[in-house]
Amino acid sequence: MEQTLKGKHIVLGITGGIAAYKSAYLLRLLIKAGAEVQVVITPNGKEFITPATLAALSGKPVVSEFFAANTGEWHSHVDLGLWSDLMVIAPATASTIGKMVSGVADNMLVTTYLSAKSHVMVAPAMDLDMWAHPSTQRNIATLMADGVEIIQPGSGELASHLTGKGRMEEPEEILRRVEAFFKKKESLSGKHVVVTAGPTYENIDPVRFIGNYSSGKMGFAIAEEAAARGARVTLIAGPVALQTSHPAIERIDVRSAREMLHQAENAFADCDIAILSAAVADYAPAECADSKIKREKTDGMTLQLVKNPDIAATLGKEKGSRILVGFALETDHEMENAARKLINKNLDMIVVNSLQNPLAGFNKDTNQVTLIKADNTSKAFPAKTKREVAADILDEIEKLK
Ligand code: C5P
Repeated sequence: MEQTLKGKHIVLGITGGIAAYKSAYLLRLLIKAGAEVQVVITPNGKEFITPATLAALSGKPVVSEFFAANTGEWHSHVDLGLWSDLMVIAPATASTIGKMVSGVADNMLVTTYLSAKSHVMVAPAMDLDMWAHPSTQRNIATLMADGVEIIQPGSGELASHLTGKGRMEEPEEILRRVEAFFKKKESLSGKHVVVTAGPTYENIDPVRFIGNYSSGKMGFAIAEEAAARGARVTLIAGPVALQTSHPAIERIDVRSAREMLHQAENAFADCDIAILSAAVADYAPAECADSKIKREKTDGMTLQLVKNPDIAATLGKEKGSRILVGFALETDHEMENAARKLINKNLDMIVVNSLQNPLAGFNKDTNQVTLIKADNTSKAFPAKTKREVAADILDEIEKLK
């Protein structure tokens, strides 16, 4: 068998479902592909498959308890979390999924999940009614929004003898997903990617500003996905309430369009790809008052606004061989307007956010986009999570390289 996973460190999490018997076969496939695998099993998992089998197949003692029974030695979930290049939880029961969502770290598996710096894949397995339950579906959606990759269960006969969706995906298919992850992981290695995200705030006085509803979620998802593909990422973020997790992301927080332009020009100098997803304010107050503007002073007031620099157009002028990607949010004639922007700003691709679709837009976890390239070809995608949309955008950018 080809050594597609040579040198890769994989934590295989096993929970208490009937499908745990298939985990032994998955483990064997991972080992045969060259991976080093550390099995972490929940107490219930051990009722379905013995640690002796798993230890023999992996060549390593299985981790289950916080402390080793005979020596009292503490098993460090932190070390395991740092060691892993990928964590695969297969099968994942409804209970473990629920604990992962809410951070109930009462066993080694969930504790390791919370410490894992690596990508995480989850292959759920449960009875059809448990899978269809709103609670499970809500938890799955939350895990996806947290960046966890879900390997959807298949349909067929279940352990309960009922037929429906809930069967854990076959080990061969899980292996294929694992291989695809490591292949993709290197697709942007050596590249420097600049991402702008979020709104900008333009100060009126020390306590007021002009802003917009951009959450920054789309740009942050792009930054995480680019880093997951091996890129060094500079994320220039307006005021947002989001965190980054990947160590390859350098985050620079800014407030105004001018600050964003300054940082974007700096980072652009040695970048390969710039993706401008920020909702930059088009205008800023001509001057910012030094002290709070008092209400009693005036019945009404006029704010004098001046045009902000266009970051995309500025970078477009000095583009060279870099790839420059912009976003367009349009209320009418979206395709025509976006295509015009692509030309005017000298972009290689523009991402058109559909405002028609209720699943797209500000502060949502989902988005629906159409990508238009400089050669005037376009590709429309269905509504997906922002992380999946980020993957689609980067797949298309990689084809432009
Ligand atoms: O012209 P419009 O604002 O619709 O263009 C949107 C695209 O241009 C986005 O990629 C946005 O990040 C970028 N932009 C910019 N600087 C501005 C305005 C928009 O970089 N001042």
